[in-house]
Amino acid sequence: MKVEFYKHSISQKDIDNVVKVLNSLFLTTGAVVEEFENRFSEYLAFKYTVGVTSCTAALHLSLLACGIGPGDEVITTPMTFIATANSIIQAGATPVFIDVEPETGNIDSDLIERAITTKTKVIMPVHLHGQMCDMRKIKEIADSRHLIIIEDAAHAIEASRGGIRVGELSTTSCFSFYATKNITSGEGGAISTNNEEIAEKLKKLRLHGMSKGAAERYSKRYQHWDMEIFGWKYNMDNIQAALLIDQLQNINKYWQRREEICCMYEEAFKENQQVDYLKVLPDSKSARHMFTILVSPEVRDQILWQLQERGIGVAVNYRAIHLLTYYRQAYGYNRGSFPVAERIGDSTITLPLYAKLRNEEVHWVIQSVREVTATA
Ligand SMILES: Cc1ncc(COP(=O)(O)O)c(C=O)c1O
Repeated sequence: MKVEFYKHSISQKDIDNVVKVLNSLFLTTGAVVEEFENRFSEYLAFKYTVGVTSCTAALHLSLLACGIGPGDEVITTPMTFIATANSIIQAGATPVFIDVEPETGNIDSDLIERAITTKTKVIMPVHLHGQMCDMRKIKEIADSRHLIIIEDAAHAIEASRGGIRVGELSTTSCFSFYATKNITSGEGGAISTNNEEIAEKLKKLRLHGMSKGAAERYSKRYQHWDMEIFGWKYNMDNIQAALLIDQLQNINKYWQRREEICCMYEEAFKENQQVDYLKVLPDSKSARHMFTILVSPEVRDQILWQLQERGIGVAVNYRAIHLLTYYRQAYGYNRGSFPVAERIGDSTITLPLYAKLRNEEVHWVIQSVREVTATA
C-alpha cells in the first residue's frame, strides 16, 4: 500500500473560486485578498491580517515593521525550519538560539532570561508541530525586559493553550500556507496583529514601500503613489487568496480528522519501548500539523528508509538547525551547544498526517512502525 506523506484538501469549490478569479480582470492583490484577510482576522479574533507570499516573508516583514535590524538580537529555537532563523538574518539581525523542552520540543522558557543581553529586542517562539509554546511565561519575560514577541505560527493556526489563542499575546504572528500546511495555496503566508500602526506599515512593506496598491490606483480616478519607506515584493495575490477562502471555512473539519489520526498514533505507541513521541500537554489544543515519533538515534535513518521501502511517505522535521553547515560556520555552533534539540533532531521521524488519510492507511503506518522498529 502506498501512503503519501501529505495530500492537500483542495475541493472543487476551491478550484471554482480560483477559476472565478482567473476569469476576472484582477489577478494581483485586490478585493479577494482583502476578503481573505478579513475572514482570517475574524477566525483568529485579530483586528488586522496582511496577506503575503510566505511565512518567511511574514517573519521578515514583522521584524522590519518592529524596527529590528543590524546590531539587534532575536532569541529563538534551533528546533524549527530554517525559515525562522533565516528571516532574522534577512532583517540584518542576529539569531540567538536557546534549547528546547524534551517533552514538547518547544523553546524552553526557563532558559530565555539568561540569553537576554543589551542587544536583545525580540523573542521569536515557534509552535512546533502545532502545539503552542508557554506564551504566558514568554509574555511575562518580554514585558519585564521590554522585548517584542513575534510568533512563528506556521504550524499552529488552530492552536490554543491555557485559554490563550495563537498570536494573542504577541505584536505579530506569522502563518504559512505552504504546500503541506493545514490550509494551503501552494505558497503563501499571512501576518496577524492587533496593532493598527504595524498593520499599515506591513501593507507598505509588502509592496516596495508604495503608498498605494494596484487596486487603489486602478479603481478610482488615477492617483499618483509615493515610495515612503523601503520595502519588498511580498504581496499575496487574488489567486492565492481565492484558494484559501473556503479552506478556512472548513479548517475545523480538517483539524478534527487530524486529531483523530493523532489519537490513533498516540494510542498505538504509548506502551511501545522503541517508539516515543512529543507530548501534547493537558491544557493545550495542538493544531496537529505534524505527528512525529522519536526512535533511537543510531537506527533513525535505517527506520526512515525501511518505512519508505514499504511505500510510506516520511520526513524529518527537524534536524536541529544550529548544526547545519551555514549556522556552524557563521555563528560557531557545535554539537553539544543545544543537547535537547540535538537529541530530538537525531531521533525524529514525521509520519503521514492529513485529513484525507484513511483509517486503513493509518493502520498500515502503525503496523509498519511497530515491525520496523522491533527489528532495527
Ligand atoms: C516553523 C516554520 N516556520 C516558517 C516556515 C516558512 O514557511 P514558508 O514556506 O511559508 O515561508 C515553515 C515552513 O515550512 C515552518 O515550518
